[in-house]
Order: sequence, then C-alpha cells, then structure tokens
Amino acid sequence: LAESVRVVFQPEGKTAFVLPGSVVLEAAARAGIVVETPCGGRGTCGKCRVVVRDGCSEPTEAERQLLSADELAAGQRLACQTRLLADTVVVVPESSRFGEQRILTEGEGGPRELAPAVRKRVLRPEAAALERPVADSDRVRAALADVDDLRLELAAARQLPLALGAGDGTVTAVVHDRDIIAFEPGDTAARLHGVAFDVGTTTVVASLLDLRTGHEVAVASRTNPQVAFGDDVVSRISHATEGGLAELQQAVVGCLNALLREIEERSGIPRDQIYEATVVGNTTMSHLLLGLEPEQLARIPFAPVVREGLTMPAAELGLEVHERGRLHVLPNIAGFVGSDTVGVILATGLLGRGEPTLAVDIGTNGEMVMALDGRLVACSTAAGPAFEGARIRHGMRAAPGAIEQVRLGEDVAISVVGNARPRGICGSALIDTVAELLRAGILDPSGRLLAPDELPAELPDGLRRRVVPGEGGYDFVVVGAEESATGEPIALTQRDIRQVQLAKGAIRAGIEILKKRLGLADSDLAAILLAGGFGNFIRRSNAVRIGLLPPVEHERIRFVGNAALAGAKMALASVEDRRLAEEVSRRVEYLELGSLGEFAAEFAEAMLFPEN
Ligand code: FES
Repeated sequence: LAESVRVVFQPEGKTAFVLPGSVVLEAAARAGIVVETPCGGRGTCGKCRVVVRDGCSEPTEAERQLLSADELAAGQRLACQTRLLADTVVVVPESSRFGEQRILTEGEGGPRELAPAVRKRVLRPEAAALERPVADSDRVRAALADVDDLRLELAAARQLPLALGAGDGTVTAVVHDRDIIAFEPGDTAARLHGVAFDVGTTTVVASLLDLRTGHEVAVASRTNPQVAFGDDVVSRISHATEGGLAELQQAVVGCLNALLREIEERSGIPRDQIYEATVVGNTTMSHLLLGLEPEQLARIPFAPVVREGLTMPAAELGLEVHERGRLHVLPNIAGFVGSDTVGVILATGLLGRGEPTLAVDIGTNGEMVMALDGRLVACSTAAGPAFEGARIRHGMRAAPGAIEQVRLGEDVAISVVGNARPRGICGSALIDTVAELLRAGILDPSGRLLAPDELPAELPDGLRRRVVPGEGGYDFVVVGAEESATGEPIALTQRDIRQVQLAKGAIRAGIEILKKRLGLADSDLAAILLAGGFGNFIRRSNAVRIGLLPPVEHERIRFVGNAALAGAKMALASVEDRRLAEEVSRRVEYLELGSLGEFAAEFAEAMLFPEN
C-alpha cells in the first residue's frame, strides 16, 4: 500500500490525504474546498492560485509563464499544476475559491447586491407627548416611511412598548419583506444571520450566513435520518403513503434543528439571531419537509402538489430559529426535479450561458440540465445510492476509514480518509477501481470480472492474485484481511460492479437523451459542470473511462461543489436571486424519461463500459 501524503488547507485547517503525485486541486476537492478553475485546469488562466512552500513538485512551464519570479519565491503556485509529494500546508486565498465571492456578488445578469428578504432597521422614533399623543406604531411607521405597505405583526406590536421603553429610546425593527416581525431594544443591527439548507435524500447540509456581509460563518452536515425508512425517494414516498408522513416530517425537522444546534455551538451565534432559513431539496424532500402528501410523485404523471416557492413562519414547521423567523422553500421544477436543481442553475449561472453547457448533480437521484442559448432542458434519473456507498458489499460514505482513491500499478495503491486503516470503499474509489480494472483488462466492457485463466498474460502478479472466486462470479480484493480495520478483506464483487453499471448507466442515459433533444454531439459540449458533494471527489478521467460522463476533454469538466446549497445561499442573500429562482422554475423544460420510448434502449447501452 502506498503511503498517502497529508495536506492541511488553511485558513480553515481542513485535512486531506491523497496519493503522492496528486495535484493540489484534487486534494482541495477532497477537503471540500472548491478552487476556481475557469480554464478547466489547463494552466492557462492563472486563477487557481494557492500558496504552498514545500512538499511539492517544481514549477511547471505554465506556472513560470503565469507567475512572476517573486510570486514563485513567495510560494505562490497554481493548484491545477502543482503536485503534492510530501506532507504539507496549502493556503487557499478567498480570490481562488469557487462560489465564495460569486455566490453573493455575481448572480445572473452581473454583480448582485446583498439584499436579503430579512433586514434590520435601527429607529429612534420621536417620543410621544401630551400635545402629540401618537401611537407607537405610527411613530415606527414614520421612521420606516420608505418601506411600502408595511405590515405590523401582532407579536411584534406586543414587544414594542418594552423595546421603546428600554434604554435611550433606540429600537431595532426586524423586517421580513414587508412584515415587521420583531422589535429589539437598542441597536442590534450588527446581529443578522440566516441559514441555508440543502436537504438531500442521504445528506443534509446547513450553512450559516452573516447577512450583513454575505460571508459563511459555519457549515455542518448530517445524514438524513429518513434513511431509516428507505434509502431512496421511492421508499420514502411509500412510507409516507402508508401513514408515515408525520414521522418523516419530524425526522427531517429534527435533523435541521440538530444542525442548528451544532452550528450554534461551533459559531457561538445563538439560534435566535437567525431570522430566516432557505431550503433546497429534491421535490420529494421538500414535500416531506412541508408535510405535503407525496403520493402522487410516485405515479404517472408524477405531478408535485406544489411547484412554486413558499414562505412561512419557521415556527409553523417547528424550526428552532428566531421565534418569528421565516422559512423559504425554493420552487421545484417537476416531480423529480426539485429546488436543488433550481439552486444548481442559479449558482452556475446556467440561464445566461450561450454555449451548450451540461450541469449534472450526482446523488441518489441524478439530475441534469442542459443549457443552450437561454433554453434549459432538465431530466432526472434514479441512480440509486451506489455512489454514496450503499448497496455495495463493502461500500461506505466518505468517512474516516473509507478508501477514497485507488490506483492499480504493479499492485494496488489506495488512499484512505483520515489516513486510518481502511474499513470500506466510498463512491469515488468505486469509480476509480472500476476504471482501473477496465484499464488493466481485469473487467470486460460488459461488466464481467474475468476468471483467473482469462486474465491478460502481462498482468502483474500483485494484481492477478487479487482476483478470487466470489458469489456469482469473481471478486477483486482491494485490501487484504491483514491490512483492513475489520480483519476481513475489502473486495469489489461482481454484484457491486452491476450496481455501478446501473447507477452510471442511468445518469449517462439521461445525458444522452438531453443531448439528442437539443441536437448536440459530445464535441459541442463547452462544459460539463459536476455539482454535488460527491462530484468533487470524482477523478474526471475515471468518470469518463467508466462512461459515467461522455468522452470530452477533461479540461471541459469542472467541479462546482455543492451548487444546490450555493443556490440556497444566493436566495437567502438576495431577493433578486429569489425572484430569479421562480423564473428558472417556470422556464425549465422538463423531460420525463419514463415516458420516452427511447429511454430503455439508451439505458441498456449506457450500462456497458466503453471499449477503451
Ligand atoms: S490555471 Fe486555470 S485552473 Fe489552474
């Protein structure tokens, strides 16, 4: 087993372990840091600057071209060029990060001002006097004369005398859209936070934003506790239909509240300073969160109960933010393309792209959108949870002990999350292993692991001895019993490979159908944007090798991180982006793959692995 190198990313202090020789970009992705790569990592744009002083390769030609001698001497390097050779520290400046600045400043149609739906106004209303016995509410309205159609909520009115009476008569009004939702005594303008949630079928992520600056203060994620009721949307829907809707709703609300508590602990920002939450998720997840019957999402014509975005008091769902805070759930597109996809479209600026661009969000469901000249066509396929490590014999999430990178040479080289003893394989390593097995000729294009007597004559012994009889065919042993944390070998089975074929076949078939709909060839695709937590970790060459993605140059494949969450953050920080989300939701043309005669044939074809 090759030794991994340990890379610590600053300023956040996140650590990744990668095989020696990996580029900084890949290590950053593994640490959950998405570096901006406008040129696709070709070494021509100079945008992916990081600082790394030792433990790395000598500057490449591209780096010498784009960085001055002084910059190089100061440790400035390009993340797409620099290879990691030994344990080291990498500093990623804000300007090199995908999303950080663009999310809040650069929405569709140019720079976007920070303009959240919730804001604070510090008021010093003129005191009432005997000769001017004006109502408190009128004094407040006079001070907020610039807000049209201001509505005073009863609960806020109840706080008004106390807030006005305290201190020097300064009071802070918390306004959401046109509603005054609270009064706070004194000047509390410095405390204004919001939280964005991405509710996935498997994972839920929360991001706390300071709404005065747009900066992310803390992030946390958890497994969606609904997995106890089934690992895909179909099983959740059937549980809800059998009387389990309330149970599923409570499970996800409980998860959001647990994330809020975790964020409070980590950031020191009390939950009652969070005045608004935004949520994206697939259509089933948002229906379950809202307590909407999802039954019709599972039968033809798969119509959602609600498409448009909804805003409500957060307390109505039991969300533990400010007691009169709001919750905004972004709009869906169709039964199987949800607000998470709307978020991806917002964050990637897909609406404004003229050149053919494909965005793919790989999760338990694969959602994909093709943009062409302002037209957006979307579809969704059930990839199943294989890439999340489920339904795979030794599969696991990308947690400590998960093998996350696999290379085959004379023998197997792996890197493991947390540099721990390996206990299972996560999705990215699954793709790696299958791609490497294809390259080595151990796996044939039909997806069959070859028997020992069929293996190529030149196959190194270190690999040959790893092919052993298993259930329904052969297994490939990635880690032997003596090296694993469990004392059992970690192997990829013939059944596992079928699961990978099903998952990648579903996604690829969707991509092929979108391409055909818009009359595009592979060579027409200007960019493929890979979204989703998982997208970050895939090695592009391997995703192409197994046929998950079409054969385009790797430079055209870009990682955009958790773009669904980025979209939820945009909608939190800007009412204009929230409006745009509604427009996106109405404009996207949705293709129901199940209704297309050609889907079965595309899927069967896409299950096969490319010849080389
Ligand atoms: S130089 Fe463009 S991504 Fe590295």
